[in-house]
Amino acid sequence: MQDLELIRTTNPKVIRQVWLNNRSFFGPKMSDELWLENSALRMDQDYGLGKEFKIWILVPKGEGDDPKAILSAVHTYDRPGLISRSLVESGHAGTQRDVEVDDILVAYVLLVFTPVEHRKRGYAKTLLRMLWGKFNSQTEPLVELTFLYSALGTDFYESLGWHAVRSKELVLPVTCHVFPKLAKRTARDHSLEDLTESHLQVITDKDIRLLRAELKLRAIAAPQNTRVAAILPEERCFHRALAKARFTLSKVARIARPFRRIGVRLNNGPEDEDAYVLWTFIEGSRQLLILRARYRTVDQIQCLLKEAMSEAREWNMRTVAIWDMNDCDALAATGILNQDRVNSWSCVGQFRHGPVDPGTGSPRVPVELMANEGFVWT
Ligand SMILES: CC(C)(COP(=O)(O)OP(=O)(O)OC[C@H]1O[C@@H](n2cnc3c(N)ncnc32)[C@H](O)[C@@H]1OP(=O)(O)O)[C@@H](O)C(=O)NCCC(=O)NCCS
Repeated sequence: MQDLELIRTTNPKVIRQVWLNNRSFFGPKMSDELWLENSALRMDQDYGLGKEFKIWILVPKGEGDDPKAILSAVHTYDRPGLISRSLVESGHAGTQRDVEVDDILVAYVLLVFTPVEHRKRGYAKTLLRMLWGKFNSQTEPLVELTFLYSALGTDFYESLGWHAVRSKELVLPVTCHVFPKLAKRTARDHSLEDLTESHLQVITDKDIRLLRAELKLRAIAAPQNTRVAAILPEERCFHRALAKARFTLSKVARIARPFRRIGVRLNNGPEDEDAYVLWTFIEGSRQLLILRARYRTVDQIQCLLKEAMSEAREWNMRTVAIWDMNDCDALAATGILNQDRVNSWSCVGQFRHGPVDPGTGSPRVPVELMANEGFVWT
């Protein structure tokens, strides 16, 4: 593999070929033209060619501008995150540990693809090892964590340095699901307000402030040698997910009606503050997917999920899904259990230069992720 190199490409011809290659797996229902349009929309919408959204290719040395030379490819983009840092070496009984919360840069990895004719020759693994090596050694910018959703189970990415974290999903069938009756306040007590894209900025800014405070508390309660990390929700990512949904609904499913409502929040005064769901539509699986959920009580989330179900019915979706929700709340609110999400495992990787454990000085500190609860890092 010495005669191969990893290149971050900004060459439009090469990028076009990467996207055309990807289509067979990531956009099988679309024509080449539609898939290119879809991919370009994603780039133009939020990232800009060669800026935040990065496309990496593995090629024989010196052949980076030849679209036919691509042996394997991957996309990455930078996400802001938080990680806790303990300020004392060891806690004494009766004393509370103090924790700082640091802002970090997280690389989100997606669309790993090797053209069929080049498969099983180690190209994808070589590409990802080189990418890992790059993030591990670069300090400008300093990438501290990397994250991906694996469609390949856990072994492939674990052998390359990522570790899988339990990934859960709650899937509610729209036509036949019956919510359990709750003992106390019923959902009827809540009044709801529609959310549209114009609400995203305020909601996301507040979410980040709340996450920062919650992460600190969680880190104080966590075992001494555990760091708590979060990848932050971002307004631009919600816009991107919604743009993709609009594109597939109109161009693939050919539904002319546009959607405005992207979620609901409770609107009953201070006790219902910050209880909401934001959703998108996954046309391919006819699913309404909750992108972000915030709630304090089981009756709040039950009420929000009921509204998501009625929205799903409206759009002829088959299921409503929410990822990585707390197991107990999921069961209490819906009457069904979280399942392991086997078709998209959450995997996280930590780099050598990441924060070290003050106890051991070792960089390999277990990371507990918190912000993937009720949150799709799309
Ligand atoms: C997965 C993929 C990128 C692997 O590319 P590659 O260059 O052939 O990979 P490598 O030669 O470096 O490694 C091969 C290993 O990949 C793993 N692998 C490939 N496909 C897999 C699958 N569907 N499930 C689990 N592991 C798989 C196996 O461990 C395989 O080892 P083997 O040869 O002993 O069976 C390629 O098959 C592909 O593009 N698939 C379609 C897109 C895709 O699934 N991307 C991943 C999204 S998370």
